Amino acid sequence: MSLSIIILAAGQGTRMYSDKPKVLHQLAGKSLLEHVHHTASMLETRGIHVVYGYGGDQLIEDLSHLAVDWVEQHEQLGTGHAVKQALPNIPDKDLVLVLYGDVPLITVDTLTELIEAAGKSKFSLLTSLVDEPGGYGRIVRDDNNEVVRIVEEKDATNDEKKICEINTGMMAVNSKALKQWVEKLESDNVQNEYYLTDVINMAVKEGLKINTVQPHSVVEIRGVNDRAQLSEMERYYQLIQAHQLMRRGITIMDPVRFDLRGDLEIDSDCVIDINVILEGRLKIGRGVHIGANCIIKDSVIDDDVVILPNSVIENSVIGKSCRIGPFARIRPESVLNENVHVGNFVEIKKSIIGNKSKINHLSYIGDSEIGTETNIGAGTITCNYDGANKHKTIIGDNVFVGSDVQLVAPVSVSSGATIAAGTTITKDVAENELAISRTPQKSVPDWKRPEKK
Ligand code: UD1
Ligand code: CA
Repeated sequence: MSLSIIILAAGQGTRMYSDKPKVLHQLAGKSLLEHVHHTASMLETRGIHVVYGYGGDQLIEDLSHLAVDWVEQHEQLGTGHAVKQALPNIPDKDLVLVLYGDVPLITVDTLTELIEAAGKSKFSLLTSLVDEPGGYGRIVRDDNNEVVRIVEEKDATNDEKKICEINTGMMAVNSKALKQWVEKLESDNVQNEYYLTDVINMAVKEGLKINTVQPHSVVEIRGVNDRAQLSEMERYYQLIQAHQLMRRGITIMDPVRFDLRGDLEIDSDCVIDINVILEGRLKIGRGVHIGANCIIKDSVIDDDVVILPNSVIENSVIGKSCRIGPFARIRPESVLNENVHVGNFVEIKKSIIGNKSKINHLSYIGDSEIGTETNIGAGTITCNYDGANKHKTIIGDNVFVGSDVQLVAPVSVSSGATIAAGTTITKDVAENELAISRTPQKSVPDWKRPEKK
């Protein structure tokens, strides 16, 4: 028996007060739907079908990278109606697993148990015992403690409302039977909706036993309905990620002030100080220290790198034992080889910096190639932009660039050259040459300062 998964995602999410469909809102840098899809795709499945409605164009555009069958539900007539839209694409002999696109933290372990439970009875349901069941559908059981039906809160009697076992909405059902049942659904209830939950009683009437499974943790079944719930879930998820990293040998100074919004591959003995944000795809080596308030996105950081506080690194490669910051900004397509030092208020963009070179203070290096063991003095600017086009600056090995130098690109400075402080370079500099462009200093002896009248 193959598994087909239906993810319900047609709801607008009114309480988000957003133009964007609810399932596109992000948790730890990924949309809610991507979280569910990621978990679903860890199961061995024939296909994943996403039922969408509100904001469909935006949804399909933003998530076009997901391998799913997009199924439109023109009008949101209820969960039963939603599932019905996806069923024609699913073979009769499959087991159908129903998930919700706005319940992002469901785990593979729980779903695997749910699927196994369905193997025995052809119908399994994920339920949960909670202290405050308000708002959820309640699981009604008979004297033998078997599930007989689900009653929605709005249709429940006062006695039924006291039931603390709730429907999470997730279930695994035989496809052929489900197809027959959804055809028979009626909307004669308080909300005038086609309830998927009504199939439970249909199954029971046909003599099926509903197997119930409980999640390992209640957060797995928690849905996102408003932005407060979204932020609670974000903090919970971040804490889980921080603890996973700590268990793998990473020191996190304060796990409640840590944010990983993406995929991180990291070796042990790294230290991450407070308020660090790691985004996108990251690969971090061994023994890396990341200071407070750093933001690192889509980058590769090699072993023993030290990143001092308040530095921002994006889409770059940082070689072994480099030292960056505080207050450094490494912009996309930069490559720092080994042992490079980049200090405070230095911006580097689309540049390659050779081993042991230093750019320690207040500089802008853009569209440049710098060799090994070169020193760039404070306040050096590569003038890479002429107002229309960008040009390159090439600097060789063992070059000494004094403070307050402008390099007007395109220009190249060969190895061993020295550039005097305050120089504006507009012509190429040859090997081992000294280049200097300065108005000679004048002296006026016994200068009388003007006095206030
Ligand atoms: C549903 C269940 C309820 C359960 C609760 C768990 C039914 C009738 N009720 O109630 O027993 O306790 O979930 O959270 O199933 N959706 C569509 N199309 C629709 C309607 C809904 O795709 O026409 C999607 C929503 O986007 C959402 C999910 O289905 O992801 C659940 O819909 P929602 O309206 O939140 O269901 P509840 O009324 O909360
Ligand atoms: Ca809901």
